[in-house]
Amino acid sequence: AASDPDLVERARVARAALGDRAFVLGHHYQRDEVIAFADVTGDSFKLAREAAARPDAEHVVFCGVHFMAESADILTSDAQQVVLPDLAAGCSMADMAAIDQVEDAWDVLVDAGVAQDTVPVTYMNSTAAIKAFTGRHGGTVCTSSNAHVALRWAFDRVGGVGGRGKVLFMPDQHLGRNTAVLGLGLSLDDCVVYDPRRPGGGLTTQQLRDARMILWRGHCSVHGRFSARNVEQVRERVPGVNVLVHPECTHDVVTAADMVGSTEYIIKALDAAEPGSSWAVGTELNLVRRLAAAHPELTVHYLDSTVCFCSTMNRIDLPHLVWTLEQLVAGRVPNRIVVDPDDAHWARVALDQMLALPG
Ligand code: 13P
Ligand code: SF4
Repeated sequence: AASDPDLVERARVARAALGDRAFVLGHHYQRDEVIAFADVTGDSFKLAREAAARPDAEHVVFCGVHFMAESADILTSDAQQVVLPDLAAGCSMADMAAIDQVEDAWDVLVDAGVAQDTVPVTYMNSTAAIKAFTGRHGGTVCTSSNAHVALRWAFDRVGGVGGRGKVLFMPDQHLGRNTAVLGLGLSLDDCVVYDPRRPGGGLTTQQLRDARMILWRGHCSVHGRFSARNVEQVRERVPGVNVLVHPECTHDVVTAADMVGSTEYIIKALDAAEPGSSWAVGTELNLVRRLAAAHPELTVHYLDSTVCFCSTMNRIDLPHLVWTLEQLVAGRVPNRIVVDPDDAHWARVALDQMLALPG
């Protein structure tokens, strides 16, 4: 739907008034009306880097979700203020790993005698407290673009992929499993799922000792909805279709697809696609619709027939953005995201480790 022209004009005026004092970041899953005002768009990895590369911007307006704004606060200087236009823009996956649960899980690993051979790896989609836990225990953050490099690095710290060491991967079990099996050649039997709602994670000591990948029981409510049946159906409907999905999809979906990768990978794959070819894309709908509009030379289908927006990403809309920009123009800083300094220190250790990974 077209945006309210008055609101568009107010956003334009406020944005112009802020000039270089503000920097507006937009995740690929944001609405078109918000992306129109983003100085840079990207996946979570690119946006973390972009935020860190703008030391002159006083106000970093993060059009994305809470954990991304936290990471931007950690990577920017104390003088910079990171603002999330709607504080209710969380991420259901990040909320599936609470710090108390993760501390308890580590105690379970200590009791099983495996903690010293385990490196924690947390997906960017986690709270600052979980990133700090990861930094304190010698691990790294990863994103969907570098999960295979991060896992290889983590295994190298405990004897290599061919050894007996382990990775505790949080909070997305699917990204962890898909990367371990398809990227590193581990088997499905090497992976166990730690369920924080069950005593001991629902695992026996023997299971923990035998496992190579201890996967946190978390998932993305958007990507977790695609099924292998969706892939079958689109192949029946569209002969010759190329199926391209995000690694937060289940292992069944990823193995049924032709290509798998982060949002930046998906964008590049369509940029490089043969004109006239057909694609079915399994990721968030705002992005798929924009890709379809940007590529009239391709046929771009949505992998599922039902609507699959990320509802929390969608909370950031033009009214919230206008309100935020106008507050900043008026000298007020609304919805500032500030991470506890000790957590920020250790989370930065884990984030810097990620930024130092090869590739
Ligand atoms: P990327 O931006 O790393 O592809 O992750 C997708 C996602 O779900 C962000 O919330
Ligand atoms: Fe979280 Fe999934 Fe939304 Fe990304 S798409 S913010 S992982 S719920």
